[in-house]
Amino acid sequence: MTRILIVGIGALGGTIATRATNAGIPVWLATRTPESAKALRASGLRLTGIGGAASSSALQIATIDDYRQGDKFDLILLATKAHAALKIAPQLADLLMPGGTLLPIQNGSVSQMLADQLGDSIVLAGLSNLGATMVEPGVYEQRNAGHLLIGELAGGLSDRVTKVAEALRGGIEIRVTPNLLGSVWAKLLLNCSVTTIGAVAGQTMRHYMTSSAGQEVFRQMYDEALSVALASGTRPERMVVEPIPPGWKGKSVPSDEYNVWVDQIMATYGDIKPSMLQDFERCRVTEIDFINGYVAQLGKKIGVPTTVNEATTDIVHRIEQGLTQPGPKRLDELLRAAGAERLFVPRD
Ligand SMILES: NC(=O)c1ccc[n+]([C@@H]2O[C@H](COP(=O)([O-])OP(=O)(O)OC[C@H]3O[C@@H](n4cnc5c(N)ncnc54)[C@H](OP(=O)(O)O)[C@@H]3O)[C@@H](O)[C@H]2O)c1
Repeated sequence: MTRILIVGIGALGGTIATRATNAGIPVWLATRTPESAKALRASGLRLTGIGGAASSSALQIATIDDYRQGDKFDLILLATKAHAALKIAPQLADLLMPGGTLLPIQNGSVSQMLADQLGDSIVLAGLSNLGATMVEPGVYEQRNAGHLLIGELAGGLSDRVTKVAEALRGGIEIRVTPNLLGSVWAKLLLNCSVTTIGAVAGQTMRHYMTSSAGQEVFRQMYDEALSVALASGTRPERMVVEPIPPGWKGKSVPSDEYNVWVDQIMATYGDIKPSMLQDFERCRVTEIDFINGYVAQLGKKIGVPTTVNEATTDIVHRIEQGLTQPGPKRLDELLRAAGAERLFVPRD
């Protein structure tokens, strides 16, 4: 039997934990505080939404510290936000059996950073296409019929990828890929552009793309991130659209084909309120350092200019600190701050 610990019983962790226990997969759960462990032990977990209603009681749930006294785990599925993941990773490594696996499922650079910190023999990379929200602690809503994608950061398939997929299968849909990093970047390219710009502008993509500043920031943000991905040797996978825009010449070139490509992205994401904007509204720290901040950091390391991603990361930090507010004017400021050239003629 594989001993599995799920750490972080928020939207994703709670949803996965409920589906796993319902499928008869024995899992242990870890919360941040003893108080929330006690509350969840009393309330159990309840899930609604896509995939049907489910609930779990008689949970084995405690803090990470409490698990130090007991048996170790074969697999730890890490479902906290990015900052917490980096902070608690060394403690989690101590809870693994020899040969055990840590599976982070955050967006962006988290898996890579954890592998740099703990070694890639411990860290397997995961990516969630599953969407979920937490209504209140213990009560979750599954928002789509998504899946977890897992794979080796170094690429290719391995026995441990197969084993981890087998251990989790039945609860939620698990898919494996030999190019996990390509999928991570496919999502990162859209998070960097669609989501972050919407958060900074305080608007949906469909709204900010009606302004020339919005179109320009989108083009440059995406182009920089794609240039970093390609220069780092990654082959981004297709997600909604081909990752390389039509007519790409080291940067996007205005054309009808390019506009169709943008419209395809808009058809899927154009009306979604950016999750980072919700973080601003709730005064929560964002994951910007693992999204645009990571693109800027990696760009610097490998010599690819990322002025717009860098300026955006600064603006997001300023919004987090209450020094400025999200709004369409931020996009003009950020083009000025980045000294960005203006290439596009505004679309109608
Ligand atoms: N939700 C989605 O649909 C979705 C989709 C794709 C990717 N993701 C990514 O998945 C990650 C998790 O997202 P989420 O929406 O599930 O976040 P969330 O609802 O905020 O859940 C995170 C959970 O981690 C807990 N936590 C924090 N520090 C901890 C610690 N030291 N030990 C144990 N638990 C700890 C939090 O507890 P406290 O509240 O007590 O701090 C919270 O319950 C994020 O990186 C997100 O970007 C989410």
